[in-house]
Amino acid sequence: MTEFRDNRTAKTTGDASDGDGEFVEGDDASATDGGTAVRGERFSGGPARGFLSSMAADDRIFEADLAVDRAHVVMLAERGIVDDDEAGQILQALNVVEVEEHKGLPDGEDVHEAIESKVIAIAGDVGGKMHTARSRNDEVATCIRYRLREDVLDALDAVNDARAALVEVADAEAETLMPGYTHLQSAQPTTVGHWALSYAGALARDADRLLDAYDRVNESPLGAAAFAGTPFDVDRSRTAELLGFSGVVANATDAVAARDHLVEVASALANVATHLSGLAEDLVIFSNRGFVELDDAYSSTSSIMPQKKNPDTLELVRATAGDASAGLNGLLSTLKGLPRAYNRDLQNATPHVWSTIDAVTEATSVAAGAVATAEWPAEALAEAAGEGFSTATAVADVLAMADVPFRQAHEVLATASEDAEGDAPSVETIAAVVEDVLGEPMTAYADEATVAEALDPEANVAMRDSVGGPAPEAVASGVASAAEALSGDEAAVEGKRDALALAHETLQDEVSTYV
Ligand code: ARG
Repeated sequence: MTEFRDNRTAKTTGDASDGDGEFVEGDDASATDGGTAVRGERFSGGPARGFLSSMAADDRIFEADLAVDRAHVVMLAERGIVDDDEAGQILQALNVVEVEEHKGLPDGEDVHEAIESKVIAIAGDVGGKMHTARSRNDEVATCIRYRLREDVLDALDAVNDARAALVEVADAEAETLMPGYTHLQSAQPTTVGHWALSYAGALARDADRLLDAYDRVNESPLGAAAFAGTPFDVDRSRTAELLGFSGVVANATDAVAARDHLVEVASALANVATHLSGLAEDLVIFSNRGFVELDDAYSSTSSIMPQKKNPDTLELVRATAGDASAGLNGLLSTLKGLPRAYNRDLQNATPHVWSTIDAVTEATSVAAGAVATAEWPAEALAEAAGEGFSTATAVADVLAMADVPFRQAHEVLATASEDAEGDAPSVETIAAVVEDVLGEPMTAYADEATVAEALDPEANVAMRDSVGGPAPEAVASGVASAAEALSGDEAAVEGKRDALALAHETLQDEVSTYV
């Protein structure tokens, strides 16, 4: 058994690698230390062999490559480019490759070469017909898109779960008062429901972006060959259909060179991670102030200070914005300035999108769980809601509603606030300042009961019933529309999964007619 170290770490790969960055050749591998069926003796290896290899990272696209090979062979047979018997032998060999998994592949620069070598080793020379009318360039581009579709749908599930958790909190805590901040200073009373809806709205846009990106991922480059098409009478639409793609990337050079769909996905995920970093930061601060009680499952403790319950999981969610930003920047800087058509740099671009999607999807699920299980201590929150004279704006609004120019009303409350030194002033104090600044008794503008209401955090919140405001009825309608948008997006994800499952079955049925 030979072993070599791959230049890509295995951190972004699935379970078939040995997990510590090495790709270990299977016992039954047919390759020797010499060349493979694809590379011959001339490019049989050397000091840069591990550096060239993407075998470990390619574990992620092993299944995709088998599907792409199968669809290609079925199409070649349908077009009479290979005969049915030849197709059957190749497809049979691919079944063996599948059973022996990625870890059973022989040495190779990448999964595409290794699978082809193994097919030739199993089926004999006829296996060499599998690569007719294609190149690894269109092959890898197709494999990435094939696998990425599943990953985007998984990311969407996580984002939608987080939205569901937030909408549920918004519904349950629609009237739970809490302090609202700007610049992290007491600003105006709001509700937990209103806070939760603010993140549900942001994540809804992220879901839209991912759904939108999915449609551009879901196009087939297969049949573009190296970059300049093929003289064989291939049917690109047929392979696209067999693989569940909505159509083809038309220009053959664009088809092999394009990676902007990876950038789009990473960018949408960077937005998700950025939103979640804000949510996590809010929860870290709230838990510091006793405004939220995180479930033990989402907390950790100190190895030395036994009394501690720390919001570690949320700190890691917050940190995931760093992973996402690294992935996005890794992609952009790897892709910048690449000439047409294919360059091996592209091999290094791919793992950036896998690491981004893995980090963000996991963090999103954790954030969803933390939100779904958190408790909101209503009493502490209500007490804090009015702190720092957070009701001042509403009193100014009361005066402005009685036709006092808002700027003057603002001055009245600024003066009252200074006099009260941070606490809410009494109605009497406000009345005195009104008379002082405006030259008329307060009752000329508003009665004492109305001002007292504005000073009460609950009534204060209830006043702000504009669209998207925190008043209970505005939150209720926000909950209804967030829930509606969510179920629409969940249905969209399900529809895409169904389409993929159907294509998978169709391909299997086609394959079984040859084997
Ligand atoms: N492992 C390569 C990649 O990920 C596959 C394509 C290799 N193509 C080539 N012309 N060397 O991009």
